[in-house]
Amino acid sequence: MTGNQPGLLDDRLLSRAKPEPATDDRRPSSVVRRPSEPQSRFLRACRGLPVDCTPVWLMRQAGRYMAEYQAVRARYSLLEIINTPELAAEITLQPINAFDLDAAIIFADILPPLIGMGLKLEFAQGEGPVIHNRIERPYDVDVLAAPPAQEATPATLKAIELAAAELKPRGIPLIGFAGAPFTLASYAVEGGGSTTYRRVKAFMLSEPAAWKRLMSKLVTVQADYLIQQARAGAAALQLFDSWVGLALGQEEYRRYVQPYNKALFQLVAQAGVPVIHFSTGTAAYIRDVAACGDIVGVDWRMPLEWYWEQIGADRPIQGNLDPAALLAPWRELKHQVDGVLVGANGRPGHIFNLGHGVFKETPVDNVRRLVDYVHEKSVIVTTQ
Ligand code: CP3
Repeated sequence: MTGNQPGLLDDRLLSRAKPEPATDDRRPSSVVRRPSEPQSRFLRACRGLPVDCTPVWLMRQAGRYMAEYQAVRARYSLLEIINTPELAAEITLQPINAFDLDAAIIFADILPPLIGMGLKLEFAQGEGPVIHNRIERPYDVDVLAAPPAQEATPATLKAIELAAAELKPRGIPLIGFAGAPFTLASYAVEGGGSTTYRRVKAFMLSEPAAWKRLMSKLVTVQADYLIQQARAGAAALQLFDSWVGLALGQEEYRRYVQPYNKALFQLVAQAGVPVIHFSTGTAAYIRDVAACGDIVGVDWRMPLEWYWEQIGADRPIQGNLDPAALLAPWRELKHQVDGVLVGANGRPGHIFNLGHGVFKETPVDNVRRLVDYVHEKSVIVTTQ
């Protein structure tokens, strides 16, 4: 992909995109050629291989609940941090230095790639993200750019190189990530967060041709972004479709979202690294979500055993503690962690995580106890 090409996926690509063989020598050989089994618990679990104990990391593990993060954030805005590779790498490592986590996630956000596409994004104080020139008409889709990630988000790619270099000697894999097309489209059309998703759904239902062009452009841009993150040193990738299940029913998912997520997974397969597909509120059609590919990240609304019954026991799953449990006293938190581990029953292919991101009110001690307890307790469950 070069320059400002329209970047549209045509129907042929949407229906038959095939992964290219991985040939880039710059990528770590363990990731590209898979000559031997990975050593880290997290990467082993991503491939369904046996582990000594359950790997654990937390979505939004770097952030406002940590004093170290707040200290940096007092001096820089969120976008300044994301656009300064040294700061983003430093924050990526903060939770790794504080807790015994099994994976790091690059400090970034799902929304900045929209800036490269021509959207005016601001993280407004106390309001969350705002897009000042939101998509209102089909024409607004046609003027969106589709620049390569090297042009649009070079700071995040550089931050990945820096963080991966620090983490490699410590044996901790780094996760790269991107927003899924629907979740990004919802911000682009709503102009910010939403509880009803009425604008994005009205656009999707009223302008199906423009919807297709919008989703295809997002697939092109996000696929390149994810592939470049793997090239820069991300050992795994995660796609965040945080809002799709809160907005859409099964038929709408199948018609307006699933083909694009499938195409995205097929394109990203060429990166040669595991890809976690996270969504919330999608229990009712989790099989349709799982059909897109790879590891399924699930929320807390149903027990893990139920999710495995739905998608097949051989599929790796990431999840699924309610993040609100981290706000509860240890007795209750421990009880809920036990519930998740008993549901996983020591099977390989379980990555312990929350069902959504860490709340900023979370006590740091609860995170520490949670991470240590998952390791200790899962040794017992695994060897039983
Ligand atoms: O997981 C990590 O540690 C990596 C960092 C990360 C951030 N955002 C940093 C961030 C990740 C993975 C994200 C993803 C993200 N961003 C998602 C998908 C995951 C999810 O939680 O559903 C979404 C929907 C966003 C969009 C976004 N970014 C919102 C709605 C907000 C404002 C709400 C809030 O929590 O403040 C952000 C800002 C944001 N992204 C912060 C952080 C640490 C808070 C920024 C601050 O310091 O003020």
